Amino acid sequence: MPLVNSKELFEKAYKEGYAIGAFNCNNMEIVQAITEAAKECNSPVILQVSAGARKYAKPVYLKKMVEAAVEDTGLPIVLHLDHGADFEICKDCIDGGFTSVMIDCSSKPFEENIAITRKVVEYAHAHKPYVTVEAELGTLAGIEDEVKVEHGAESYTNPDQVEEFVKRTGVDSLAIAIGTSHGAYKFRPEQCTRDPKTGVLLPPPLRFDILEEVSKRLPGFPIVLHGSSSVNQEYVKIINEHGGALKDAVGVPEDQLRQAARMAVCKINIDSDLRLAMTAGIREHFEAHPDHFDPRQYIGDGRAYVKQLVKHKITDVLGSNDKI
Ligand code: G3H
Ligand code: 13P
Ligand code: ZN
Repeated sequence: MPLVNSKELFEKAYKEGYAIGAFNCNNMEIVQAITEAAKECNSPVILQVSAGARKYAKPVYLKKMVEAAVEDTGLPIVLHLDHGADFEICKDCIDGGFTSVMIDCSSKPFEENIAITRKVVEYAHAHKPYVTVEAELGTLAGIEDEVKVEHGAESYTNPDQVEEFVKRTGVDSLAIAIGTSHGAYKFRPEQCTRDPKTGVLLPPPLRFDILEEVSKRLPGFPIVLHGSSSVNQEYVKIINEHGGALKDAVGVPEDQLRQAARMAVCKINIDSDLRLAMTAGIREHFEAHPDHFDPRQYIGDGRAYVKQLVKHKITDVLGSNDKI
């Protein structure tokens, strides 16, 4: 099976009340961990690449590694550009064989966001085969590539704008801001309550009222959540017990993501959780084996942790297992 776009995957996900995981890829071990996990769970998967990933690994390596994963697993895999900043990077990815792109002009004024998104949609949809396009309305807190949005400067998606945006752009899916945030420090401690037993921060709930309102205005239309790592405390604990120093790292609770996946959310973006799992595996390895220096040994342990995490996400959070 060749790479696929997201259209049919989202249609089925919407109908059946689950979401497809969109996992960020930066190297071979991450690609392998995600796709081997998806294979064992019989799940479709989106492999997404940021501008930072393209700079780190080079587009040609990423494309060929993802193609290798398709050949190795036989899964329906979408190769997606994450947070495309302008028309040129989207065009470059479409011309280079990506099956889906995100144009992210969410920090620009509404009319400008529409104009650039429309231009990308026209180019992507004229491509054979059809390339699907995701856009964004509203802004998340945290870091996206080089753009840092301070806590307090984020803005929730305005449901009054979504119908006009989708109609005028022709976009295939829409990322919205309902309180998720990029990175491993999603909420300031003062936004959270602290569990008196564990000392772990409990974040404010997502704005399900906005998600519900958006899905009423756009019936059957696939919604995307960025910034959806849960910052699983078991990995934070391993990191901190093996020389790390991650203080007050906090994510979006998994039960809230599960709830969103049952609603209109068809794509859930996860990157930070993969980074934490990889780091936990490597730190643990180094402490247990201070004499090791073969990268296959320690990166191999990191890869095993990422695989275990992705299987958990697919089965217990996204609900996309056995959906092929
Ligand atoms: O949304 C941001 C993703 O986690 C990608 O992060 O730009 O560091 O590759 P990156
Ligand atoms: P996290 O930082 O929560 O993993 O979000 C990743 C993301 O949204 C990639 O686009
Ligand atoms: Zn994102």
